[in-house]
Amino acid sequence: MTPRQIHYKHSTVNLYEGDFNDLLRKEIGPRQYVIITDSNVNELYLAGSSFKNIISINPGESSKTLGTVSDIYSKLMEMVIDKDTVLVGIGGGVACDITGFVASTYKRGLPFGFIPTTLLAQADAAIGGKNGVNHRGIKNAIGLVRQPDFIIFDPRFLDTLPENELASGFAEVVKTSLIGSPRLFDLLENNYTRALSRDREILAEIIAHCIAIKAGITSQDELDCGQRQVLNFGHTVGHAIEAAGNLSHGQAISIGMMMAIGLSRKLCGLSESSAGRIKSLLMKFKLPVEFKSEIIKSEIIKSEIIKSEIIKYEVKEVISKLYHDKKINGDTLNFILLEEIGRPAIRKIRADELMEFLTRIIH
Ligand SMILES: NC(=O)c1ccc[n+]([C@@H]2O[C@H](COP(=O)([O-])OP(=O)(O)OC[C@H]3O[C@@H](n4cnc5c(N)ncnc54)[C@H](O)[C@@H]3O)[C@@H](O)[C@H]2O)c1
Repeated sequence: MTPRQIHYKHSTVNLYEGDFNDLLRKEIGPRQYVIITDSNVNELYLAGSSFKNIISINPGESSKTLGTVSDIYSKLMEMVIDKDTVLVGIGGGVACDITGFVASTYKRGLPFGFIPTTLLAQADAAIGGKNGVNHRGIKNAIGLVRQPDFIIFDPRFLDTLPENELASGFAEVVKTSLIGSPRLFDLLENNYTRALSRDREILAEIIAHCIAIKAGITSQDELDCGQRQVLNFGHTVGHAIEAAGNLSHGQAISIGMMMAIGLSRKLCGLSESSAGRIKSLLMKFKLPVEFKSEIIKSEIIKSEIIKSEIIKYEVKEVISKLYHDKKINGDTLNFILLEEIGRPAIRKIRADELMEFLTRIIH
């Protein structure tokens, strides 16, 4: 099967779609391989299969640390692998980010590939070559950019994804439409019911749009020196909310996007009707849109997005996380705003101006 390809300056990524068992065996051929996955995905998709050499980590964001990376290095040493051994990350964004980081650093670099199993990883995290881990509560504080050799997309994985993880993925999908494609935004508005019911045809179409948009942006600016920053739409504040509270990545990003939309109305002339359409689309995907603990709590309970009853946000804590964010450069930060749906703008905002805005809208 001839793969689709993404071309970067120094590498090419092969993209395959179909049954991951067959495609992975073909891609690896006679080479040695090690699979890095998390225990949920292992249990659902790998236990009982003929794949060997599986390193399984605990599921979730709390595993995205140097400690996990160090444990994996030790296991690889015990396995006595050579420089041609292929590392394969099978899982969500966490398993993929960790696999990419380990593969890029162990023995100064091994070949690697991803088999993304969440909507978020298929539509976003697996593309673009950013690999990293969190450190001392700061998201992706340590990492590097290196492209995988291949990515295998198997739509069947999404059948078993929990509701809250699906919603989280839709936040990144909506973000991608906002920064890259009014057509994708329209597609989401017109087909959200089918998408929420996991209709494979519409999900495949949505994911293909997202891959094309992210591939286009990251291949033009692989090292994040310019246009790639638009992918951070909603993420500057979103990451701080994620680190300070107990919302999932996608939920925090949804709130972060709504804050960026508030600023876009003020500073970039984003129309009221577009702001309204965006808010309503996020709500259709069962995502929280306001940073008021009571409202978020009721949204979450209504949509059963998370189980926790304790949702605590401290404005000061969010703000201090923001100051640690690597995107803050001296007294200003590059903030991604929207002029219109599909038309992002990178603006320098003074940190104190942003803090003043946030303090006014966070209750
Ligand atoms: N590298 C990038 O460019 C990039 C971009 C966006 C996000 N990310 C990162 O991705 C991470 C979030 O990824 P995520 O949302 O996929 O989270 P995740 O990897 O933690 O997966 C979420 C949960 O879903 C489970 N799961 C995975 N696939 C499943 C399946 N098919 N069926 C049932 N359960 C399944 C996992 O075990 C886990 O419990 C964050 O760390 C974020 O920083 C990276």
